[in-house]
Amino acid sequence: TLLLWYWPFGESSSLDGNPCSALYGIPNCVLVTDHSWFPKADLIVFHNRELIEGKQRLPLDLPRPEKQRWVWLSLESPPYNGNMRPLAGRFNYTMSYRRDSDIYTPSGHLVPSQAPNGTTVDDFIPKGKTSLACWIVSNYNDGHERTAVYKKLKNIIPVDVYGGAVNKRLSSENLIPTVSRYYFYLSFENSIFRDYITKKVWRNAFAGGAVPVVLGPPREQYEAVMPKDSFIHVNDFSSVEELGHFLKTLAEDKKRYATYFNWRLNSSFRFITDWKEELCKICPQVSSLQRQKVYDDLHGWDWQ
Ligand SMILES: *[C@@H]1O[C@H](CO)[C@@H](O)[C@H](O)[C@H]1NC(C)=O
Ligand SMILES: *[C@@H]1O[C@H](CO)[C@@H](O)[C@H](O)[C@H]1NC(C)=O
Ligand SMILES: *[C@@H]1O[C@H](CO)[C@@H](O)[C@H](O)[C@H]1NC(C)=O
Repeated sequence: TLLLWYWPFGESSSLDGNPCSALYGIPNCVLVTDHSWFPKADLIVFHNRELIEGKQRLPLDLPRPEKQRWVWLSLESPPYNGNMRPLAGRFNYTMSYRRDSDIYTPSGHLVPSQAPNGTTVDDFIPKGKTSLACWIVSNYNDGHERTAVYKKLKNIIPVDVYGGAVNKRLSSENLIPTVSRYYFYLSFENSIFRDYITKKVWRNAFAGGAVPVVLGPPREQYEAVMPKDSFIHVNDFSSVEELGHFLKTLAEDKKRYATYFNWRLNSSFRFITDWKEELCKICPQVSSLQRQKVYDDLHGWDWQ
């Protein structure tokens, strides 16, 4: 039994009818949110944000069963995880985007999938691309490295910007069709940390059929989760000017542009859409988790 102490960011969904087995085919896995399960739950999951903001507290006043393990959940990078020093010595497992977390939770992953007979790579490239590059940004900050790259890049190629930062929010229905009109999508992370690759690549770029131009951890870390020929890394170029010229040339060379879609002939992809699915996926991993573990310096671990 897995007890979620509260929904991350308040994003709740129904747990009626045992979703772990009914929706995801995961047996022997019961996900609950009712606190009365506390004495019996094998694992309890706590999402970091609400703890550091003081909106939720750890149940330190309840007698914690000896075998019960607590899971710290966050998909944010260290600067957005706040001061976690008060959480020292409480948690047994981490659940994050870091590959070395106990419960590895990447923002997306590849799924082997053979394209139907007769499919060609062009079938994966949306028709009617009219513009070069776009970026969707809600947290626009002059201190971010990505902002500096954007400012240089827009002097070389046209970059359309959407999102809260420029008061051009895209509704979820409009997002994919909008991104599809572009050759490239700027999947720029807000901060650069090991393995920190967010849904921007999967949901915005791949789902929208635009080639992601990524700014984030080094190329090898992207290649650990997605094909090496599926994206363009800002660090592949010695300057932003060079990157801009490359993008311009690539968009004009249909054949070469298409090579960025070759991987889709034998792979598909999935990305995080629902907390409950990620939580259910903990169950099959429980038996292989380290038996005895405590994070005595969770804050330090996060910043490693
Ligand atoms: C798809 O094909 C490429 C190249 O032939 C190969 O490297 C890759 O492992 C294949 N992926 C899957 C999921 O089969
Ligand atoms: C694909 O379809 C063609 C013609 O319909 C057929 O000859 C060929 O054997 C098929 N290939 C595979 C791998 O099924
Ligand atoms: C889990 O962490 C607590 C400390 O918060 C510790 O007392 C307990 O032994 C740990 N359990 C396991 C199974 O590691």
